[in-house]
Amino acid sequence: MSKTSSTTLARGERRRITVTLNGRERTGYCESRDLLSDFVRHELGATGTHVGCEHGVCGACTVQVDGVAARSCLMLAVQVEGRRVDTVEGLAPDQTLGDLQRAFQRHHALQCGFCTAGILMSCADYLKRVPDPTETQVREMLSGHLCRCTGYTPIVAAVLDVAALRNENNKNNESSKKEPEHA
Ligand code: FES
Ligand code: FES
Repeated sequence: MSKTSSTTLARGERRRITVTLNGRERTGYCESRDLLSDFVRHELGATGTHVGCEHGVCGACTVQVDGVAARSCLMLAVQVEGRRVDTVEGLAPDQTLGDLQRAFQRHHALQCGFCTAGILMSCADYLKRVPDPTETQVREMLSGHLCRCTGYTPIVAAVLDVAALRNENNKNNESSKKEPEHA
C-alpha cells in the first residue's frame, strides 16, 4: 500500500486548517477539494458569507483574504492555512454596524440582502485603496457583483456617501491637529 505524503491527502481524508477569522484564531477540518466558501460557512460557522453561482460570477461569496477581496467559491480552503480571512461578520464585531453598513441602511441599498455581504466586503477593500472614488469607479467596482433587487443606484449612493463622510472626518481631524495651541 502506498503511503500518503504530508502534503498529499488520501481521498476523503481531512486536513486541519488554522486561520485568523475576523481577528480570532480558528481551526477547522477540510478535504483538499473543499471550497473556502463551504469551509467558512459549514466548518467555522460564518454563515454571513453567501453562496450563489459557485463559479466566480455573482460575487455573493466575497470575503477578504489577507485584506484583499476574494471570491471564496474560487479558492480552496487549504489555500488559507495560516492566513487572515475576514467575512462580513468582522464588519460588526461587537454587533454594532460599521459606517459602511450604516450607509447601506440609510440609502436602502439592500432588499433581500443575498448579495449584500459580498458587496460590503468588496466595498470595504476598495475604499481602503481608493478612498475618494468617482461614481463611474464605484459602478465599475460593483460590476463584479450581481444584485437582483436594488437596481444598484442606492448601493452606489451608499458607497459615495461613506467615502465623502470618511474624507470629511479625515479633513476635520487633520485641521484640528494643525490648530495652534492657546497659552
Ligand atoms: S458564489 Fe462565488 S462568485 Fe458566485
Ligand atoms: S439585495 Fe437582493 S440580490 Fe441584492
